[in-house]
Amino acid sequence: MKIITDANVKGKKVLVRVDYNVPRSDGHIIDDTRIVGSLRTINYLVENGARVILMSHLGRVKSEGDKKENSLEIVAEHLSSLIKCPVYFVGDTRGELLETTINNLLDGEVLLMENTRFEDFPSTLESSCDEALSKYWASLADIFVLDAFGSAHRCHASTYGISKYIPSYAGFLVKDETEMLDKSLKEEKTLILGGAKVDDKIGVINNLLPTSKKVLIGGAMCFTFLKVKGFNVGKSLISEENIEYVKDLLEKNEDKIVLPVDFVTQNGVKDISDFSNNDIGFDIGPKTIELFESNLKNSNLVLWNGPLGKYEDKEYENGTLEIMKYLEKEKFPTILAGGDVTGAAGHFGIKMYYVSTGGGSTLEYLEGKKFKTLERLNG
Ligand code: 3PG
Repeated sequence: MKIITDANVKGKKVLVRVDYNVPRSDGHIIDDTRIVGSLRTINYLVENGARVILMSHLGRVKSEGDKKENSLEIVAEHLSSLIKCPVYFVGDTRGELLETTINNLLDGEVLLMENTRFEDFPSTLESSCDEALSKYWASLADIFVLDAFGSAHRCHASTYGISKYIPSYAGFLVKDETEMLDKSLKEEKTLILGGAKVDDKIGVINNLLPTSKKVLIGGAMCFTFLKVKGFNVGKSLISEENIEYVKDLLEKNEDKIVLPVDFVTQNGVKDISDFSNNDIGFDIGPKTIELFESNLKNSNLVLWNGPLGKYEDKEYENGTLEIMKYLEKEKFPTILAGGDVTGAAGHFGIKMYYVSTGGGSTLEYLEGKKFKTLERLNG
């Protein structure tokens, strides 16, 4: 993969696609992990005298109203406070003001242009990777850097189209993410899976099972497995359509798959064998925490996707929290992958060995899908 350090960036206009699709509430950024993740690349470019032009999407834009809701201006202010230098914000995605501001940038200065998905209304030019738009954006710069791992699975004008027309490189975030995820794909690991639905995990299970020592399954998805094993799971969530898949998986991997033995329900802690017809398991119970910890012992690598319970509710946070604390205490290299589990770590303030900034992109990468955006950077 060609990375940014392979390029001579001094005095060059460098267009960097970052992923500033950050969660917001009442117009405020509530999690800046992705912005912080982009700093290494930005600081490198600033220190090496590049003229930095940042671009990102934010939300989905299907109307004029969506444009008002999804301006990147709030990110420019926040970014400026993080890099401790001005970030010029241009509220356009094309046109004279944008072009003049870019051409007036001095070495080491930084500009952020407006949300690339403003080009998705009235026609979906950005998301359809429109040729003319890709060419136009490429014409604004000398070099393109892809540092938006969270959007690397999208073949859009800003992630892929531009790279057809100017020399293109990976930023440090894309480099780190791909190295970490490649490591978790290749090396033997203990896999922790949680979250609500089995459907979302089938691709990941199929791709990672052969290289996993053990697969610990929690979250609502484990009830489909427990039902197949003959337990009464009460009113807990089941994926009827995946019963056959799960049956086959369990038959072939009985020794690898570890399932919870107790849960925190709306009626207190219960062993799975004691569930009544109305019980719903919202979190793994204390015996399961012990069971999972004993299976995690001596792990050289842990890959975790999906929380083990409804951690947003205090009464159901314990399973996810305790396992995170255990991994942190034992210092097992743990890669957190996927928005929900990385959100949980942020919520608890727990630092892990590696926290992926991708959501859908991380899952697709772990499923073994190849991204055209990244393949382009290998050429
Ligand atoms: C994400 O948050 O997963 C990425 O920013 C991609 O966003 P998208 O699903 O709207 O393309």
